[in-house]
Amino acid sequence: MTATMLAGRLDVAKGAFAVEEVPVPAPGPGEVLIKVEAAGVCLSDVHLIEGMLKPLYLKGDKVTLGHEVAGTVHTLGEGVTGTAVGDRVLLQAGETRDGVVHTRGVDYDGGWAEYALATATTLVPIPDELPFEQACFIPDAVSTPWAAITATGAVRPAEAVGVWGVGGLGAHGVQLLRAIGAFPIVAVDPLPAARERALAFGADAALDPADPGFAGLLREATGGRPLSVAFDFAGVAPVREQAMATLGEHGRLVLVGLTNKPLTVTNGTLVSYLRQQIRGHYGSEGQDVVDLVNLVRGGRLEFSRSVSGTFPLAEAARAVEALEHKEGDPIRLVLKP
Ligand SMILES: NC(=O)c1ccc[n+]([C@@H]2O[C@H](COP(=O)([O-])OP(=O)(O)OC[C@H]3O[C@@H](n4cnc5c(N)ncnc54)[C@H](O)[C@@H]3O)[C@@H](O)[C@H]2O)c1
Repeated sequence: MTATMLAGRLDVAKGAFAVEEVPVPAPGPGEVLIKVEAAGVCLSDVHLIEGMLKPLYLKGDKVTLGHEVAGTVHTLGEGVTGTAVGDRVLLQAGETRDGVVHTRGVDYDGGWAEYALATATTLVPIPDELPFEQACFIPDAVSTPWAAITATGAVRPAEAVGVWGVGGLGAHGVQLLRAIGAFPIVAVDPLPAARERALAFGADAALDPADPGFAGLLREATGGRPLSVAFDFAGVAPVREQAMATLGEHGRLVLVGLTNKPLTVTNGTLVSYLRQQIRGHYGSEGQDVVDLVNLVRGGRLEFSRSVSGTFPLAEAARAVEALEHKEGDPIRLVLKP
């Protein structure tokens, strides 16, 4: 192994991202060095580079991005048990340190690198038949919608749901809502390709948010029922207002997409009268990721359609640009060191 490696580093203060040569880190007690095989590119990485999203607990000015990571165990730090060199694993997207959640690739160095450090407890073994490219994004692009649907949104079978934004998170959101029996599932996205894939992933209807007949088309899609749960998987302010207006009694608006724009409730009396709720959502629990890997192992879920393209790590900036501008209508773009 060489002493240095490539890593995609963000200078948070300057908002400057570049792939640089840095020393390969050594695992401390309880840590493992992972040889990264695949790492996902999330819109949150774009938000970080743009400065909309700021690390809360980062020590220093620079961080290696990448919270969606899969690879093999390369070196064990002192005292690590329960894993062996060569094991195929994915990494949880964060961990609790000093009582607060730290996010990988945000608050500490992540996996847009040839090698990454991980606390041993954040390793999740993956089956041989699950390619690294499909495993890497389970800890966010799949587990975040999973937790938003099953925990924060508490969707019950046969509830009518809306999914705003059918990108990396939303496409899996549709797939998971289908798996748990929500009905109908109405997807909303301005991109025609995103609406097409929503239907392919199990949505019952797919609408353009700018369609002047939106409200009528939604009523048609649900047979006149208001939505029980609306998910913002887009991170775009107008989505929230539009989604809020579609909810019925006890309706829940779940905010997964991230934006710092003000949240406007246009009819507060109705929200009170219908006892509606706006619920923020972040990430998932470790067990969610383990459960999802088990569902893949058991043949209940598979993500081969989700990998829209791969880029060499050295071209990470190109991948970020491609996601930001939706070049090739990506679901997930994956970096390969
Ligand atoms: N809360 C969390 O834990 C968490 C975790 C990961 C990502 N995120 C956030 O979730 C959001 C989505 O991330 P992603 O990687 O899936 O992004 P993405 O770029 O892959 O997908 C976003 C989708 O939203 C669509 N969209 C844009 N405007 C819309 C509108 N007006 N109505 C409906 N859809 C619209 C886009 O066309 C695109 O298909 C981002 O804001 C990201 O930061 C949150």
